[in-house]
Amino acid sequence: MNSFEYKNGSLFAEQVKLADIAAVVGTPFYCYCQSEIIFHFNAMKQEFADLSPLIAYAMKANSNQAIISLLGNAGAGADIVSLGELERAVAAGIDPKKIVFSGVGKNEKEMMRALELGIHCFNLESVPELERLNDIAAKMNVIAPVSVRINPDVDAKTHTKISTGKFDNKFGIPYIEANAVFKKIKNSSHLKAIGIDMHIGSQIIDLAPFDEAISILASLFKSLNENGHELEHIDIGGGLGISHGKNDKSPDLKEYAKIVRSHIKPLNCKLIIEPGRWLVGNAGVLVTKVEYFKQGASKDFVIVNAAMNDLLRPALYEAHHDILPLSKPQDNAEQMKVDVVGPICESSDYLAQGQYLNPVKQDDLIAIMSAGAYGAAMAGTYNSRPLITEVLVFGDKFETIRERQTIADLIALDNVPAWI
Ligand code: LLP
Repeated sequence: MNSFEYKNGSLFAEQVKLADIAAVVGTPFYCYCQSEIIFHFNAMKQEFADLSPLIAYAMKANSNQAIISLLGNAGAGADIVSLGELERAVAAGIDPKKIVFSGVGKNEKEMMRALELGIHCFNLESVPELERLNDIAAKMNVIAPVSVRINPDVDAKTHTKISTGKFDNKFGIPYIEANAVFKKIKNSSHLKAIGIDMHIGSQIIDLAPFDEAISILASLFKSLNENGHELEHIDIGGGLGISHGKNDKSPDLKEYAKIVRSHIKPLNCKLIIEPGRWLVGNAGVLVTKVEYFKQGASKDFVIVNAAMNDLLRPALYEAHHDILPLSKPQDNAEQMKVDVVGPICESSDYLAQGQYLNPVKQDDLIAIMSAGAYGAAMAGTYNSRPLITEVLVFGDKFETIRERQTIADLIALDNVPAWI
C-alpha cells in the first residue's frame, strides 16, 4: 500500500493534499496515514493467523498517543522499554496482559509499576536484573512472569548501531548461558519463567539471520522444556526492515512468516512478535520547506527548515530516505544532485546526501519519505528548535496529534537560580 501519491500534480496523504495541511499547521511537520498503519497491522495479523501471535507494537518507533491508541484498538499489545512507554500504553487502553517489557536497564520504579499493573512479562537481560526483580516481587508479594532475552550471536547484517544480536552487543543472555540462568530463575522465590525472546536488530532486509536466530531459540525452548521448565512462548522481537526509497529492497512478509512458522509451529507454543518500523515506517513523512538553494564550490545544498533534531536517522545511521516535492515535477524534468541540509550548526545536519532531486526553489515544500518510524520519536530540541507538529490523516480528514512546541515552552522548562 502506498498512501502518498500524486493526484493532479500534488502529493497527497490518503485523500488530503499535503500542501493543504502545511497551510494549516505550518512547516515542518510529520504526517502519518492511519489506513496504512492499519493495513500493515492487519497484513501481519493475517499472515500469522494460524499461529495467533501477540503482536506487541514496539512503541519506541512512534510513541504518539494517537498511534498507540490506533494500534491498541486494532488489537496490538505493546513492547515497552521505559516507565514512560508503560504509562503511555496503559493510557492508550492497552491491556497490561498484552505488554512485554524489554530493555537492559529496567529500574526499580519501572519494575514496581509493571508488577502492580500485571504485565504479560519482563524480558530479562542479565542476572543482576533477575535478582533485582525477584527482590522487588518478593517485597510486593507477587510472582513476576519472566522471559529471558537470548543473545544468539547472530549477525543481523544491518547498520552496526542497530545490530543487537552479537555477543559484543550489550543485549540479552548469551545462548550458551541460558541453561544456568533458567536454573537461577527456577530457584528464585518470586519469578516464574514463561518464555524466551530475542531481538537481533532493526531494519533487517536479509531474512537469513532471522532463520538462524529463531532456530537457536527453538532448540533452546525444546531442551529447556525437556528439562522441566514450563515455557509457554517464544518472542522473536522486531526488526523486519522496510524500503526507505525506490532503490531499496524490502523483505517479503510471506517469506518472513514462512521462516517463523517453520520453527514455531512444531513447538506448539505461543508466539510474540514486536514489530515497530514495519507497522509505521512507510506510513509517515516529514514535510519541510526549502529556505535556500545554495550553490557550493563542490556540491549544491538545499537548505530546508527541518533538521537533524527533527529527523536524526540520516545523521546517526547514514540512513537514506527518498525525497519527493509536494508539487509533481514534469516527467522529463532534469534532476540535480544535492545535499538536503537543515539550519543546525554542524556538518552532520543533513537529511539527504548526494540525492538526485528535481530542481527546487525557495518556499517549495518537499516530503522526506518513510519517516513514520524513529522520526518524531527520536526528535530533540538541539539549537533550541521546538518539537514539531504531528498530524494524522484518515481518508479525507486530518487532525493534529501533537501540537508544535513553542519557544516559550522550551524556556519555561528551565530555571534560572536567584543568585544569577
Ligand atoms: N523489540 C525490541 C526489544 C527492540 O529493541 C526494538 C527496536 C524493536 C522490538 C522494534 O524493532 P523494529 O521492528 O522497529 O526494527 N532508531 C533506529 C532503530 C532502533 C531500534 C531499536 N530497537 C532507527 O532509526 O533505525
